[in-house]
This record gives sequence, C-alpha cells and structure tokens, in this order.
Amino acid sequence: AVKGFEILPVAGRVGAEIRGISLQGNLAPEKVLAIREALLKYKVLFFREQHQLDDAGQEAFARVLGNPIAHPTVPIKSGTDYVLELDSNHGGRADSWHTDVTFVDAYPQASVLRAVVVPDAGGDTVWANTVAAYEHLPAELRQVVDSLWALHTNDYDYAAQRAQVSPEAKRHHKEVFVSTVYETEHPLVRVHPETGERSLVLGHFAKQIIGLSSADSAQFIALLQAHITKLENTVRWRWAAGDVVIWDNRATQHYAVNDYGDQHRIVRRVTVDGDVPVSIDG
Ligand code: SIN
Repeated sequence: AVKGFEILPVAGRVGAEIRGISLQGNLAPEKVLAIREALLKYKVLFFREQHQLDDAGQEAFARVLGNPIAHPTVPIKSGTDYVLELDSNHGGRADSWHTDVTFVDAYPQASVLRAVVVPDAGGDTVWANTVAAYEHLPAELRQVVDSLWALHTNDYDYAAQRAQVSPEAKRHHKEVFVSTVYETEHPLVRVHPETGERSLVLGHFAKQIIGLSSADSAQFIALLQAHITKLENTVRWRWAAGDVVIWDNRATQHYAVNDYGDQHRIVRRVTVDGDVPVSIDG
C-alpha cells in the first residue's frame, strides 16, 4: 500500500474519493500506479482541496494518464495547451448525458476536471457506470446490443437533449462546437482495452443505431439510456473549488446538473487520448 493514500468509495457501483495525495508536481511511480488501478476499478476518482493545481499543473497531471489532446472544435483556453474551459456564462453547461468526444474514432480514454468557480448550491456532476449498466441488462437484451453499432456525431440535436437551452448556448453549439462536423461509428458494446470489461457506448453524440429506422433508433437509445442512468449505476459529486475529478471515459457517462440559475460555475477539463473502441467480435 502507498503511504497516506486512502480510497473511500462514494457510491456502491461507481466512484471513490482519494485522500492523502497532492496532484501537484512529480508524482512518485507507486502513487501513479495506485491512481491508475483505482481509476480502472472505481471509474471516477475525486480529489478534494487541490488548490495548488493551476492550469499547467492540471495538464501535467493529465500526462500521468496519457497524452493530453485539445478538443477537436472548441478553442483551448488561452495560455494553455489543452485546457477546455466550461463557463456557465458562455454556454458551458454540460446538462445532458454523454461520454466525452465520442464523435471521433479514437475518443479520449480519460478526462481530468477541475472546479474553479462553484455555485453556493447546485451544479453537481453525476456519473454513470456504463460497465455496470451493461452487466445489469437482462441477458436477452445484452444479446441484442452485442452486435449493434451506432453513428456518433457532434452535429446532434443539441436542444432536444438538454434540460435548458439559452440562446448563447445554442449559438455556441452551432458556431463553435459544430464548426467542423465529425461523424463516426462505434459498437454499442466495447471491450475495455485494460480491464476486458464490456460497456455500453452511447450518450448524447449517439444519433442513430445502424440498421434501425430513426424512430426505432430513438426509442431504443432512450430505453438503453434509461438503464445506463438508473440511480444505482450513478454517483453524484457536490463540488468545492479546488476539487479535481478524473474519470475513465471508456466506462462512464456524465451529466452536469443545471440547477444553479444565474450563479456562476467554471470548470476546466483536460482529456487524454484513447483508442478506437473494439467490439466483442474483435
Ligand atoms: C463535461 O461534460 O466534461 C463537464 C462536466 C461538468 O461541467 O461538470
């Protein structure tokens, strides 16, 4: 065991808080290993009080997990190499279920999110474990999803997926987020390259299940999303400024709860490159 490193599960199926570690500066190899192992097991890791970490420190920490990559369409925060800033005053409200950037072939394996400005109340983030979701599907349904594929695109129906949509957010989506259209196909069930676990690959960028009519596809996606986001598969985090959360983007979806009105919320994200999902047929 690594000295001082504590793992406290936050919910039954996903998420653990890690105590006794600063993410700033060079991390000892045994600490890196402990974080990587915990991430594969719990899928989402929470670190409180990382006030020393600035943008560069966040990028350096992300490098521990892999190669950081900039968002394909949204400009990075100035003065940084990879930081995506989500500012609630400028359309940065991720209030629909998704896995980050699934509209590209090799979507990120992990994300590192840091809370900079947090509302007095509200603005929690919820994650769902897409491995648990797959495993808890009835066997008959698993058989159906095992061989299906879906089209993912950043040009999805943004407004239809959201709790609330401001004109600023709509403009940002159209002019910035979809400034270049990306489309790709992923298996509905991917095999995790490190754990071998099977997970469901959906979220708001999944526009259409291949081979189904768009009406059937919409209903089938809604049915599966309802399974994925069952409360038993989720963990909810009440942010404080200085918190850092990392998640395995191959095994989770997340949703930023949009319940804080005009209060200000700023979070900064660095994603780490991943690989092309492999279906259970290889
Ligand atoms: C994201 O979707 O990557 C950000 C989630 C959040 O704002 O909590």
